[in-house]
Amino acid sequence: MSEPRLNRNTGLDLVRATEAAALAAARWMGLGRREEADQAATAAMVATLNSLEFDGRIVCGEEGREVVPESLVGGARVGSGRGIAVDVVVDAIDGRRLLARGRPGAVAVAAVSVRGAMWTPAPAVYMDKLVVDRAVAPALVPECLDAPAAWTLGLIARAKHKPVRDLTVFVLERPRHADLIDEIRAAGARVMLADDGDISGAVLAASHDSPVDALMGVGGTAEGVIAACAIKALGGGMLGRLSPQSRDEAAAVAAAGLDTRRVFSLDDMVRSNQIFFVATGITDGLLLKGVRFEGDRATTNSLILRCETRTRRLIFAEHLLEQGA
Ligand code: FBP
Repeated sequence: MSEPRLNRNTGLDLVRATEAAALAAARWMGLGRREEADQAATAAMVATLNSLEFDGRIVCGEEGREVVPESLVGGARVGSGRGIAVDVVVDAIDGRRLLARGRPGAVAVAAVSVRGAMWTPAPAVYMDKLVVDRAVAPALVPECLDAPAAWTLGLIARAKHKPVRDLTVFVLERPRHADLIDEIRAAGARVMLADDGDISGAVLAASHDSPVDALMGVGGTAEGVIAACAIKALGGGMLGRLSPQSRDEAAAVAAAGLDTRRVFSLDDMVRSNQIFFVATGITDGLLLKGVRFEGDRATTNSLILRCETRTRRLIFAEHLLEQGA
């Protein structure tokens, strides 16, 4: 049986949800109140998602790592309930701490694919990730996740026809990455340490024209599945492997029968080419400009990716704000 088809305008519909989330979140920039910011962004995103014509199922939320509203936990239904059945992954704010501190790089993101296409790694919370662009994707091998960073960086450098010293690697600044960061530095590559936001990091690493050559290290699984949608639509490459960060997580993962040795490819993480990924900048970042407010108006900058056609659209929008918004 042939796969049901997503409407070609799905990305333009979906971007309204990340625009709404970004507009709601941006009011909280630098106020130090990430929970309130998250609630506002999530409510705006869910309201918009529920006005879209599809029967959506959230495949995995961030519930293992954060308090997540019922409307966005794994398995929750979104959309009007009519139309095509789809898998949905969203993050109303990727980089909540960044936003609360008024720092660059917070984004609102969402992705959809046909029902059953997306990997559902719950209850796993963390995964190891390696992300590269389209020039390197064909050279990726599962061994890259276990090999010393110098070996993987050598492979990336050969595929990009540039020396290792010219490579820039995005890594979340976490104690768990101390050895990885040392290895990357010892190999001679440059490191972009980020406080948060490995979805943006992954999209940058998968974009052939960005200043980031690779993303390495452990981040959220929900973020990994969202990133996989973007990376596939960009033609980049990704390897992922579950990487429990606590005994409880390891026990839950084992009880669910999930394999922590298996290396997942991009096609294991999203098994369809019918994918739309959208992102809207909240605070200014390398990937997207953030929201600007001016009187009764605000502007947003968004990215829309369509995997089937490999189209990458950048959308600038000016919004007339509702009174009080
Ligand atoms: P939130 O904004 O949802 O809190 O996520 C930020 C983030 O940096 C993600 O981009 C990343 O995948 C994850 O947190 C890493 O988790 P942790 O902060 O626990 O290391």
